[in-house]
Amino acid sequence: MTEREPVGLGVLISGRGSNLQSIMNAVARGELRAAIRLVISNRADAAGLTHAQAMGIPTRVIDHRRFGSREEFDHALVETLRAAEVELVACAGFMRLLSPAMVNAFPNRIMNIHPSLLPAFPGLHAQKAALESGARFAGCTVFFVSAGTDDGPIIVQAAVPVMPDDDEQTLSERILAQEHLIYPLAIKLFQEGRLRVSGRRVVVLDTPQPDEKAALVNPPPRPAG
Ligand code: GRF
Repeated sequence: MTEREPVGLGVLISGRGSNLQSIMNAVARGELRAAIRLVISNRADAAGLTHAQAMGIPTRVIDHRRFGSREEFDHALVETLRAAEVELVACAGFMRLLSPAMVNAFPNRIMNIHPSLLPAFPGLHAQKAALESGARFAGCTVFFVSAGTDDGPIIVQAAVPVMPDDDEQTLSERILAQEHLIYPLAIKLFQEGRLRVSGRRVVVLDTPQPDEKAALVNPPPRPAG
């Protein structure tokens, strides 16, 4: 099989940029065939901009407060991403809701990551909501952005146990470690042409399947004896 071209990636951030860093690291290690064409932040003080510059990746600040409406801001995003020849957009801690102006410009070509096992706990403070719900598992989800909030077709999820002494920070750290694994994985599946969106479901072609009997139980049953 001939290898596919690297995917032209644009990453949207608003802050820390640890997911951006995990994507850049996967590219640098040769695990992900992507050309990160541009990192855009809506905030000039986003730490992720410095990480990108350190890796020699072009950055732009597009401050949403300069625009009269969400649509106008999104039009500026679309124009900038198109000019940079971006094929796939990865939102990584980008704290702006996208309007149809963006979603329709890149249909099934905008990914986002959310720190919960969607469809549970969409929106802000997902880790806190999971903890307070008493759920035994939490996790993270990479999905294709649709018109709704945290509502698009799910690509990859990772589940982690909630530990009895967790607080919001410890649970968030456990989830974040998995975010850093599944975001590069989802982009890799896209780059390899393995993702087919069918209604709300994403079919992943030619990929290892989980062991259907390998259920996670929390708390685990005591070993017999
Ligand atoms: C992550 O928890 C991500 O799931 C959420 O925002 C956070 C961004 O973190 N959407 P970072 O900026 O990638 O470090």
